[in-house]
Amino acid sequence: MYLCSPQFNNMKFFIDTANLAQIQEANELGILDGVTTNPSLMAKEGIKGTDAIMKHYRTICEMVDGPVSAEVLSTTFREMVEEGEQLASIHENIVVKIPMIKDGIKAIKWFSDNGIATNCTLVFSAGQAILAAKAGATFVSPFIGRIDDSSWDGVTLIEQIVNIYNAQAFDTEVLAASIRNPLHIVRCAEAGADVCTCPLPSILGLLKHPLTDLGLEQFLKDAKSMQ
Ligand code: G3P
Repeated sequence: MYLCSPQFNNMKFFIDTANLAQIQEANELGILDGVTTNPSLMAKEGIKGTDAIMKHYRTICEMVDGPVSAEVLSTTFREMVEEGEQLASIHENIVVKIPMIKDGIKAIKWFSDNGIATNCTLVFSAGQAILAAKAGATFVSPFIGRIDDSSWDGVTLIEQIVNIYNAQAFDTEVLAASIRNPLHIVRCAEAGADVCTCPLPSILGLLKHPLTDLGLEQFLKDAKSMQ
């Protein structure tokens, strides 16, 4: 089971995709701490059927040494428990991703009591985040990009949840999701998010600065004159 490590308190980088090539590219950077997926991301890769789903998660777990969120496809307590147990049996790094619904909270509590890590997804308010933490979720996933899409500020929600969790000493990690650009990552780091799960272009976007490119061009030119 994935356990939070209190000594590891700089923001972790997860990649938010089910695409193996992108996971590989991010992993090769050496900065990847985990992976998150969701049914839309899995469907985008053309993965169909229980066997293919299980196989895909196993492959991801073998590629990346860190938590891998695998989302349940059911919405009732019993089915989520059954499905989550099956997902958790794939690999010790699997984190069962559960939607923020009434039965989801019951399932998170059940998994927490049974030593299985969870990621409570589709979180859009501080109240939902409190409930998820109270049920014992390992991670809570506020969707900041989708909040921005509805003309609110998603990062403000991250700040609010971080403050509440600190004030209440909840162990649940704040996993900023629905990241759309490099600035989201910078602002989530400022806000004290424990984890940022990002699409590959947002991670690579952190590299970009025109003065770096111009500076390197000049250095390489001058280096040639030295040879
Ligand atoms: O994994 C959930 C989340 O990151 C979804 O992102 O861009 O579909 O809002 P997005």
